[in-house]
Amino acid sequence: MQIQTTPEQALKRKYPEQVVLVATRNPKGRANVMAVGWTAIASEKPLMFMLAIDAGAFTYRLICETKEFVVAFPNEQMGPAVLYAGTHHGHKIDKIAVLRLKTQKAAKVKAPLIAAAVANFECRLVRIFKPGDCPLIIGRVVAAHRHRDASIRRLYTVGPGYRLSGVRILNTLRNNPRNAFAG
Ligand SMILES: Cc1cc2nc3c(=O)[nH]c(=O)nc-3n(C[C@H](O)[C@H](O)[C@H](O)COP(=O)(O)O)c2cc1C
Repeated sequence: MQIQTTPEQALKRKYPEQVVLVATRNPKGRANVMAVGWTAIASEKPLMFMLAIDAGAFTYRLICETKEFVVAFPNEQMGPAVLYAGTHHGHKIDKIAVLRLKTQKAAKVKAPLIAAAVANFECRLVRIFKPGDCPLIIGRVVAAHRHRDASIRRLYTVGPGYRLSGVRILNTLRNNPRNAFAG
């Protein structure tokens, strides 16, 4: 049974929420990384990502300038790095250097890959929409990479206040749609 409440209260129940790192590089060559939770796949063929990025973020400026970026799925050990990347602006700080985050050269864009991530997607900007107070960035995937260790898992935001953790599937039987009506 549902109880009517405020959107703010109901949103507290949205977790776990995915979190990605968005890597960019400024025209002078310095790379930057930020955390983004408001993200989704926007198209399958061609594959596109949607990112909601505040217009005040350094990343937003760099995406507007360079028209490219990398979406990296952080692994579940990367909570402290993601938290730092998501709570410090890169206008003046070199977050990648502070974090000693290992990067790799991408195949098609100048922004770097995050070496320890579960997967990386190189993207070229398609369009920016402004339906509300947060610009929506649509990027087309032009190259993809996965970590060679297929056993590493993704990091998620598991609760309000940027609580970051891995998640575990507890009961696969109940997740099978054929068992949806089982007691
Ligand atoms: C877990 C997490 C999720 C976040 N999600 C978003 C998001 O979806 N959109 C956004 O604009 N900022 C988000 N932030 C905040 C940005 O990462 C933060 O403003 C960051 O300092 C921007 O970095 P930049 O200025 O170097 O681009 C998030 C932060 C954290 C820790």
